[in-house]
Amino acid sequence: MITCSAPGKIFLFGEHAVVYGKTAIACAIDIRAQVSVEEILVPAVQMKGPGNNVDLNPRKHPYIYTVVDKFRKLADLPDDNTSSKSGKGIAIDIHSEIPVGSGLGSSAAVTIATIKALDVFYGTDLPLDEIARMGHQVELEVQGMASPTDTFVSTYGGLVRIPDRKKLDFFDAPIVVGNTRKFASTRKLVSNVASLKERHPQVINQIMDAIGTISEVGVNFVCVNDLSTVGELMNINQGLLDSIGVGSYELSELVYASRKAGALGSKITGAGGGGCMIALCEHKNLSRVAHSIKRAGGDAFICRTSNAGVRVE
Ligand code: MEV
Repeated sequence: MITCSAPGKIFLFGEHAVVYGKTAIACAIDIRAQVSVEEILVPAVQMKGPGNNVDLNPRKHPYIYTVVDKFRKLADLPDDNTSSKSGKGIAIDIHSEIPVGSGLGSSAAVTIATIKALDVFYGTDLPLDEIARMGHQVELEVQGMASPTDTFVSTYGGLVRIPDRKKLDFFDAPIVVGNTRKFASTRKLVSNVASLKERHPQVINQIMDAIGTISEVGVNFVCVNDLSTVGELMNINQGLLDSIGVGSYELSELVYASRKAGALGSKITGAGGGGCMIALCEHKNLSRVAHSIKRAGGDAFICRTSNAGVRVE
């Protein structure tokens, strides 16, 4: 059996502004999706997960299904349900610690871990840039739109500057993630921001510029692990995200609860409207901040930024 895993991600700065070509800083975190692949005797693609060994309908797992399809072509297999030239099949088992649909890049992590697992299984030996490229292509095919950020960060791990996708010196920091458990569509939020920008171009363009500047200034403090200045800049970034309408009552509650409990900085991560926020904390405050987020109605978990991208377990 081959098992591979890939990380989720957060945005330290710059979501939404990155859609307009401004700088953003994303970072992998140490919660991961794990995908195992093994050969089975029946000629089928069986999918199990997460964790409960129930066979799942491939249509409910379009990311994995699309990856399998791509490898079928790469490994030159027949266009049926078999997944090896000898007519055998494969079982794919998915476990993920990353909450689904919450802005932490869960679909990208599952996609990238599946690509790596099938790469090893079929011996195709894809380089990392090809894994990231295929991952982005899969997200595009399944979602209709996707930025390459999630799949890139999940492939390479660590701290990444967007849009040039440059891996920066690692930023080692403890983070509390607060989840509102409210789903919000990234497509809708991006489109709402575009409409706001059309109605008030002079105002919104300046806000996008300011968010981009926060990322550019922030990099200098991130690279020297100056957590308190990074936190301060995250708070400014949060104010600007609120101003473009991607906040929500629940997100604000978690953001302010975390600050009240001592977080150095806190903001939405991802598209907003629901989903998750992040709080940058000193070690001594991690549990206090997590508790405070829970008391304010969110789910909370403690994690760290991580330099590890996709890997074979
Ligand atoms: C969504 O996770 C982040 C956005 O900036 C959209 C994107 O970068 O594709 C809102």
